[in-house]
Amino acid sequence: MTGRPNPFVDLAPLPIIGAPMANVGGGLLAAAISRAGGLGFAGFGGADGPDAVAREFDLAAGAPIGAGFMAWALDRDDAPLRAALERRPAVVSITFGALDRHVALVREAGIPVVTQVGDLDDLAAAERAGVDGVVARGGEGGGHGRDSIAMLPLLQAVLERTALPVAAAGGIATRRGVAAVLAAGASAAWIGTRFAAAVESRSSDRNRALLVAAGPGDTVHSRVHDIAKQDAWPVEFGGRALREPLHDEWLGREDELAAIAPIPCSPVYAGQGVGAIRAVEPAAAIVAALAPEHSAGSA
Ligand SMILES: Cc1cc2nc3c(=O)[nH]c(=O)nc-3n(C[C@H](O)[C@H](O)[C@H](O)COP(=O)(O)O)c2cc1C
Repeated sequence: MTGRPNPFVDLAPLPIIGAPMANVGGGLLAAAISRAGGLGFAGFGGADGPDAVAREFDLAAGAPIGAGFMAWALDRDDAPLRAALERRPAVVSITFGALDRHVALVREAGIPVVTQVGDLDDLAAAERAGVDGVVARGGEGGGHGRDSIAMLPLLQAVLERTALPVAAAGGIATRRGVAAVLAAGASAAWIGTRFAAAVESRSSDRNRALLVAAGPGDTVHSRVHDIAKQDAWPVEFGGRALREPLHDEWLGREDELAAIAPIPCSPVYAGQGVGAIRAVEPAAAIVAALAPEHSAGSA
């Protein structure tokens, strides 16, 4: 109502955002979500160079998409971000680490930039960095993030404290969940897990089957995969994934695991909303299933 630009509502007809998911959500999935009336992100992680950025933007074939990055990976090399800016994404997301330098680069390019916040210190850092919007991301969400505050208490606290546009993330996987966060005052729902088994995702057939079979209690937030793989993730950001034997063996014994790492593992990152995935579906069907009733729908 203020007339302030709001990247969560200005860039798509529907308040449905396909979250960045490195290795899982690339240009195909992002474009399918955007063409269905939402806003899809391609996600890039520590192993993705400028070539991966070029490949995923080519796959999006000109559809308006966002590009998501991890700040700790950009600290080592920001070439992937620079490559993305040349492709003019609709919006950029940068999360997980120090924001200022990377946010400044995106702003200089005249592209809106948002970040996910997992607590109120993250919110303060986001405001200092000058982002155009924040995503209140609760600990029930899939993939990496803090596990300190659940989505609903975090969303309420963030909405009370900031004048920035706010989206909500973590466990939103049905039309009911989308309606709930919009009613609470979020501008949009930022959804990862529900799209992870979509036809257009980069998930393997094995992982799609595991996602379809899983229930809401089948995920664990931990550092065991990052320790097993010797990944460079900052310690404050664990990953929520489907529970598997690696958790049973090493949870609580992370120091011992670190001593024998690296050991092979293949986590299936997913949040507590995973129980809503009943089938492998095209992203457009998922967007239609999530969209508020009586909304504009796809063009
Ligand atoms: C498989 C997977 C990969 C993810 N990768 C990224 C990523 O590359 N960058 C990022 O900012 N967030 C990433 N996330 C977190 C999402 O942006 C978002 O916070 C989360 O999916 C929201 O919770 P939900 O999964 O319950 O919908 C990932 C999430 C999942 C499930």
